[in-house]
Amino acid sequence: MRIIRHPAEMTAWAKEQAKSGQRIGLVPTMGFFHEGHLSLMRRAGQLADQVAVSLFVNPTQFGPQEDLAAYPRNFERDCAMAEAAGVAVLFAPEAVGMYPAGFNTTVMVGTELTGQLCGASRPGHFAGVATVVCKLFSIVRPDLAIFGEKDWQQLAVIRRMTADLNLGVEIVAHPIVREADGLAMSSRNTYLAPQQREAALSLSRAIVLARKMAAEGERSAERLTAALRDFIHSFPETTVDYISFVHQDTLQEVAEIDEETVLALAVKIGGKVRLIDNGKVLV
Ligand code: PAJ
Repeated sequence: MRIIRHPAEMTAWAKEQAKSGQRIGLVPTMGFFHEGHLSLMRRAGQLADQVAVSLFVNPTQFGPQEDLAAYPRNFERDCAMAEAAGVAVLFAPEAVGMYPAGFNTTVMVGTELTGQLCGASRPGHFAGVATVVCKLFSIVRPDLAIFGEKDWQQLAVIRRMTADLNLGVEIVAHPIVREADGLAMSSRNTYLAPQQREAALSLSRAIVLARKMAAEGERSAERLTAALRDFIHSFPETTVDYISFVHQDTLQEVAEIDEETVLALAVKIGGKVRLIDNGKVLV
């Protein structure tokens, strides 16, 4: 596996691949790999000839009070895991390589997709994500790029940006990878103390509860939200950031749930660790 640090070198590699007719699959990440990341990499290997993974803890998508400095990192381990997953190139630029002096452009997807859910709790977050992903597409020039449904709103934002700016990258969605007990895998799960790890199950269990209520005939988003809020708060150290029933593509809130509704959740555990999860309710 080749490790590339400089954007220009990354683009040179991409041009070589294109010349020899090789299709490139890109998996953008912030590192500290888990099985979720690895399954995206393996999927990329099935869909493309060469897999490139970017590893960049992107400062512009973190708010001033967020965990940029504390974000978990383990470069050696990540390299070994990516190599074992069949990755051809790990692109791990430095912040100054991505944002050199004078950098002054931001890609912003409109508030219809970015004004609610994580966009409301994390102002500027999706501008940071859209800008870095747009840059990664320009640098790596992939034929396709894979994103996890774990970050449902991020996926919708990237789809919109890619279509609106004619970026010519096929966006592939990958299902959420979970621990055996249902917790959605996340690099941030490593922040959880043992008793908080139990409380973190409130998210996936809330989705199961919503599905059960829906199967029994409940359709009101308001009543479902009230029941889920009580359920989540019955776990110690939990604070609901949002519970929202939205249309799967438009991300607009719905009053009555149907087959196109996604339940999106964000919960703080112990006042610090913010976890997200989502799922269809009527399946
Ligand atoms: P990161 O949180 O490292 O996630 C990288 C990719 O892995 C994203 O597409 C995310 O949705 C996916 N992913 C994470 N956990 C997953 C799980 N349990 N199941 C399935 N997929 C999962 O998302 C980012 O990085 C950044 O915002 C990025 C897109 C790289 C831009 O900086």
